[in-house]
Amino acid sequence: MKKIHYKNAHLNSTRLIYGCMRIAGDNNPADKAKGKLALRAALEAGYNHFDHADIYGGGHCESLFGEWLNELKQETPAIREQLIITSKAGIRFEPQRYDFSTDYLTTSVENSLKRLNVDYLDMFLLHRPDYLLNAEQVAQTFQQLKASGKVKHFGVSNFSPSQVNLLQSALDEPLLVNQIEINIHNISSLTDGSLDQCQQLGITPIAWCPLGGVAYPAWGNTFSTDDEQRIATELTRQAEQYNCQPWQVILAWLLKHPANICPIIGSTTPKRIIAAKQALIIEYSHADWYRLLEARNGYAQP
Ligand SMILES: NC(=O)c1ccc[n+]([C@@H]2O[C@H](COP(=O)([O-])OP(=O)(O)OC[C@H]3O[C@@H](n4cnc5c(N)ncnc54)[C@H](OP(=O)(O)O)[C@@H]3O)[C@@H](O)[C@H]2O)c1
Repeated sequence: MKKIHYKNAHLNSTRLIYGCMRIAGDNNPADKAKGKLALRAALEAGYNHFDHADIYGGGHCESLFGEWLNELKQETPAIREQLIITSKAGIRFEPQRYDFSTDYLTTSVENSLKRLNVDYLDMFLLHRPDYLLNAEQVAQTFQQLKASGKVKHFGVSNFSPSQVNLLQSALDEPLLVNQIEINIHNISSLTDGSLDQCQQLGITPIAWCPLGGVAYPAWGNTFSTDDEQRIATELTRQAEQYNCQPWQVILAWLLKHPANICPIIGSTTPKRIIAAKQALIIEYSHADWYRLLEARNGYAQP
């Protein structure tokens, strides 16, 4: 699968990342077996980057991955080094809040490592910006996590450009990624400076819920039936033209952006996990990119 080289790090991530948020399902044996089949499909399809968070499935997603990795090590002992394993922390519950304190982040990383059955994370991301972010303190926490060998590289998720700047100003190494929602419904990163900043600083934008607004309603969906109809008509036309499925057109639309957006595929259906790769070989045109944007907006670009 096509790869992207993270600037300033010896990491070559596949352009599509496999998202592990749903792999444990309801954590019953049937769902867990399905999750392992999905992981196997992703691995065999060539995905080398697996995205986690401490809170996915209340920790069960990381545990299931750890169990699967242990089984995999029996057949491929060196498999760990071939994978990029990312996890996140910073969201806590009861009451729900964001917490970037040293204790909380360090304990979260240690718990993730135990569940995942690994000695280190390739990347650790701050999940959502803590409004009480103390950049100097986070920088010290990152230094400690790196010095202990528990984390190799760092990134953020759902950070605005100014929050990235603030944190980056206190760090002595570059943030590698900003994982944000980007899909046909949520295009704020096109205009809020996020993708510009990514290009400028060499930060890789990772798109979560890339199919929101098409395969399922996006978070905070504001599309009307007319909007959905217009988008569906254009997507159907383009899918016929590119000889693919409408949802693969959406992935191609994201991949076209020069900031090198890496979509996260979170389906637990093997045939979808595999079929997502077709988006990587579509020669998607500049004109069609704008036609889809116009269909989404309901007006031509001024
Ligand atoms: N950083 C953050 O704040 C954040 C937030 C949310 C998610 N994430 C990351 O992003 C990953 C992806 O997010 P996601 O799981 O919500 O989105 P997703 O990959 O688009 O999948 C969402 C749901 O849509 C279904 N689906 C996927 N492809 C489909 C298709 N082609 N046609 C019809 N249905 C389809 C899937 O069902 P099936 O499983 O039945 O195929 C799944 O239940 C997560 O695993 C996680 O790693 C990060």
